[in-house]
Amino acid sequence: MRRDAAHSLRNTVRLALVLAASLLISACNPEQSALHPAGQDAAELSDLFWFMTFGGALVWCIIMGAAIYAVLGKKRPRSEKFADRFIFIGGVAFPTIGLAILLLVGLALLPSWREQDPPDVRIHVAAEQYWWRFSYETEDGARVDTANEIHLPAGSTVEFVLTSTDVIHSFWIPSLGGKLDAIPGRTNLLRLRPTTPGVYRGVCAEFCGPSHTFMAFPVIVSDQAEYEAWLSAQAQPATSTNGAAFLAAGCGACHVVHGVSEAGSVGPDLTHLASRRTIAAGTLPFSREALDDWIVAPTHIKPGARMPSFATLPDADRAAIVDFLMDLR
Ligand code: CUA
Repeated sequence: MRRDAAHSLRNTVRLALVLAASLLISACNPEQSALHPAGQDAAELSDLFWFMTFGGALVWCIIMGAAIYAVLGKKRPRSEKFADRFIFIGGVAFPTIGLAILLLVGLALLPSWREQDPPDVRIHVAAEQYWWRFSYETEDGARVDTANEIHLPAGSTVEFVLTSTDVIHSFWIPSLGGKLDAIPGRTNLLRLRPTTPGVYRGVCAEFCGPSHTFMAFPVIVSDQAEYEAWLSAQAQPATSTNGAAFLAAGCGACHVVHGVSEAGSVGPDLTHLASRRTIAAGTLPFSREALDDWIVAPTHIKPGARMPSFATLPDADRAAIVDFLMDLR
């Protein structure tokens, strides 16, 4: 009996070590980790996680200690008074106080922003299969459209107005805070408060189709001046008007490039494509080769992508389109 108990204890310790190691490994990517907070909300969630983890571990240790004592401890009769007290403290007082503390800590972290002032930045987010349409509200009520990359000023309150045009997606920047679904026919509001400048990674956190995993976006948190410079650059028309090949191939039917083609609304706005770090929503790093590969076979890179293949275009035309896109800074 004792050997069995010791054996199972050893197995439990082993399991706990494996779990702890996998937790450490999974927390290794600070760009996309809720345990490396770069925003006030993520910091609160991280604190809650560690509080719950250590609180749970403490309760687990107490229960395991009691179980081991029950199995291995000396067997001698206890008084009825001791038993009553033991049951009251262990079975009533301890769970009641423990759960009340957990509830109070959890309630204190509920968002309270509904009563507060309007946000510093408001961004309209429309989730698409499989990319993100972002539209910044400016102070004069105008909109600045972009896609698949977000820039935010550190120290501000940012409101994301989340909608979806097709299926349910979920908007999540783990380093900045919690996630919220983007649901067709609904508008959901998420507020985040980025605090630490850096480059983070946002993702779609709800399975939405074969390329659910290729639906990410870089999040660049910078100081206010850098953010404002970025936004005013994004509000300008394209830095190149050399789009003859782009227009001849029909790209303008789906993509807006302000100053070149205004009609398309199906695909991402490409006006400042070359200012972005990735193409195809975080799928490939931005480069000439990646653009060329993408134009030839979008669905090889991203299954289910709505963009058709342009493999039949003559090489010279494709090269001219890629040249044009590379100039859209
Ligand atoms: Cu969009 Cu998963």
